[in-house]
Amino acid sequence: MEDEVGLEKSLRPQYFNQYIGQNKVKEQLEIFIKAAKMREEVLDHVLLFGPPGLGKTTMAFVIANELGVNIKQTAGPAIEKPGDLVAILNELEPGDVLFIDEIHRMPMQVEEILYSAMEDFYIDIMLGAGDGSRSVHLELPPFTLVGATTRAGMLSNPLRARFGISAHMEYYQEEDLEEIVKRTADIFEVEVVEGAALEIALRSRGTPRIANRLLKRVRDFAQIMGDGRVDKAITDKALTILDVDSAGLDYIDQKILKTMIEMYHGGPVGLGTLAVNIAEDRETVEDMYEPYLIQKGFLMRTKQGRQATRRAYEHLGYPYQDEK
Ligand SMILES: Nc1ncnc2c1ncn2[C@@H]1O[C@H](COP(=O)(O)OP(=O)(O)OP(=O)(O)O)[C@@H](O)[C@H]1O
Ligand SMILES: [Mg+2]
Repeated sequence: MEDEVGLEKSLRPQYFNQYIGQNKVKEQLEIFIKAAKMREEVLDHVLLFGPPGLGKTTMAFVIANELGVNIKQTAGPAIEKPGDLVAILNELEPGDVLFIDEIHRMPMQVEEILYSAMEDFYIDIMLGAGDGSRSVHLELPPFTLVGATTRAGMLSNPLRARFGISAHMEYYQEEDLEEIVKRTADIFEVEVVEGAALEIALRSRGTPRIANRLLKRVRDFAQIMGDGRVDKAITDKALTILDVDSAGLDYIDQKILKTMIEMYHGGPVGLGTLAVNIAEDRETVEDMYEPYLIQKGFLMRTKQGRQATRRAYEHLGYPYQDEK
């Protein structure tokens, strides 16, 4: 039997030359990595930011591979107290990459310890409590912190300032996503007929994770309803059943826009109100849905709140009235 988890792992590009798209970020990082290696220094700390599923985790592993060092992985919410961070830092070998996902969700006392660790590779920690407490100074090996966040705005200034390299991941171009779909199809050994890969790419919200997921589901439809080959007709049919529309908007994207139009005359409406109405949490709407809707010109952010655009009305088939 096919091992889906194993296959999933093999989808992860290991080096820059397998990493499709994000050319600006790649080109910069390649130079910084080469220069650091030439000087035999550790790479400066890297902050990766951008919406979910664009390949931040993948990029962190690529950076470590290109540097030829080990990577230790953790996430902001998992580091609950200073001691947790100390334990992680204590295990680092010289030159290692420490990857902290969702770095904006670290507790403040933890974050403060990170400042000196990042800047001068040491930490001062208090051991014990009350009269018996003492401060311990711990030297660390030089390391590279790679932090990932979906929201640069949520990072405190002192933390942000300690990243020497900051890379903004963008939604992928159609042709890059098409290539990603083809690469994934090769790995999954599924035949994708010309045109179908592009169709999946166009409907993946600019996001590799979604492209890979849609391909998997379309493959299921092809297997049951067709001869196993993924062609344009099967793709259209599958994506319609999956509620992914022609612009790549999914059920929730559509629900957000429809709610704005039907209940609030297109807005402006506050994000919190909107989130409650569609029964999603605010963070999810702000991180996962809104950025794409804004990028595609379906939604606007105004001082008064969120507003649906003429394009949203037209796309969803509502009559649009110009303001008086
Ligand atoms: N450039 C790429 N080329 C091919 N596949 C990619 C690329 N970037 C990401 N992928 C694939 O997309 C999926 C999502 O990537 P990844 O987990 O790195 O995203 P992420 O930005 O860390 O997301 P999140 O913010 O949700 O953690 C992975 O399965 C990965 O294999
Ligand atoms: Mg990730």
